Amino acid sequence: MERQLEELRKQFLDDLEHIHKSEDIDPLRIQYLGRKGRLTAVLRQMGSLSAEERPRMGALSNELKAFMEQSLVAKAAALSTAQAATGIDVTLPGRVLRRGTIHVINQVMEEIQDIFRNLGFAVASGPEVEDDYHNFEALNMPANHPARDMQDTFYFSKGILLRTHTSPVQIRVMESQGIPVRIIAPGKVYRCDFDITHSPMFHQVEGLWVEQGITFAHLKGVLYEFARKCFGPDIPLRFRSSFFPFTEPSAEVDMGCIICNGSGCRVCGNTGWLEILGCGMVDPEVYRFVGIDPETVTGFAFGMGVERIAMIKYGIDDIRLFYDSDLRFLGQFA
Ligand code: FA5
Ligand code: MG
Repeated sequence: MERQLEELRKQFLDDLEHIHKSEDIDPLRIQYLGRKGRLTAVLRQMGSLSAEERPRMGALSNELKAFMEQSLVAKAAALSTAQAATGIDVTLPGRVLRRGTIHVINQVMEEIQDIFRNLGFAVASGPEVEDDYHNFEALNMPANHPARDMQDTFYFSKGILLRTHTSPVQIRVMESQGIPVRIIAPGKVYRCDFDITHSPMFHQVEGLWVEQGITFAHLKGVLYEFARKCFGPDIPLRFRSSFFPFTEPSAEVDMGCIICNGSGCRVCGNTGWLEILGCGMVDPEVYRFVGIDPETVTGFAFGMGVERIAMIKYGIDDIRLFYDSDLRFLGQFA
């Protein structure tokens, strides 16, 4: 009987070694330890042993039984770790994939572009690393002009800078394609600015329409149409006279502050209005810089702040939320 037990141990170890799947463990357990199992069959012979032999064989077979049980448990554990490592445990519930969303500012940019495309504007672009000539000089802001102070500028080196507005694209487009021209130019701009309505990197959409017979009425018509398409028919809008060296006359346009409904809050600086854009009739000096005879055409230009429009559209009271990368905030615009 002792030999039988020894033989059984060898066979068991051999069988165990050939198991590679968790589901084969239980059949092996039944084959050896089950009621009709092979160890059980050997134990049945105990009755035929002498009284002296019985205790020793009892101990040996109990030891083998415990050994088999422990080996099976260890094997099961080893197999399940191996399966986890290869990543295929088909019994686990599926993982929920978090889907990314298009950034709310890009969504608003798209919407603005759609509205202007429908009004017949083509889309142009220019470099974010700009030269002094296109960003300032050709827009009628010579070196030391005080208007440069309105746009706190990041410089790389003398004459090279991060564009402070999208207006240099006006110059580049008139230089390269001449007139007539009817374009918008969306893109990133940079200024040393930081508070709840100012971000050091923000987006503008420039507009430029130069053609015979264009008047300030066209400018107002286009901007009102834009505001109604973007915000609905009831959005309060006001033109406030202003100054830009590259437009004359110039205006800034404010929208009714959605955060306080016009009663005054920290976002609108208690005015009830939020400035969304600057605009005006292209200054004759600008035409001279791009070789166009100012006597032959007129045109208007505007530059709107995309973040401001998004703030009004969604009632967001701090511009910095757009760039904090907080998924709880950004995920709302899926
Ligand atoms: C300009 O940048 C002019 N280039 C606009 C223009 C174009 C006038 C063509 C005439 C003809 P301004 O600095 O006001 O103007 O900026 C335009 C708009 O950008 C502002 O009305 C505001 O909505 C937005 N804006 C300005 N600075 C910031 C900032 N730091 N963060 C977010 N939005 C800003
Ligand atoms: Mg302004």
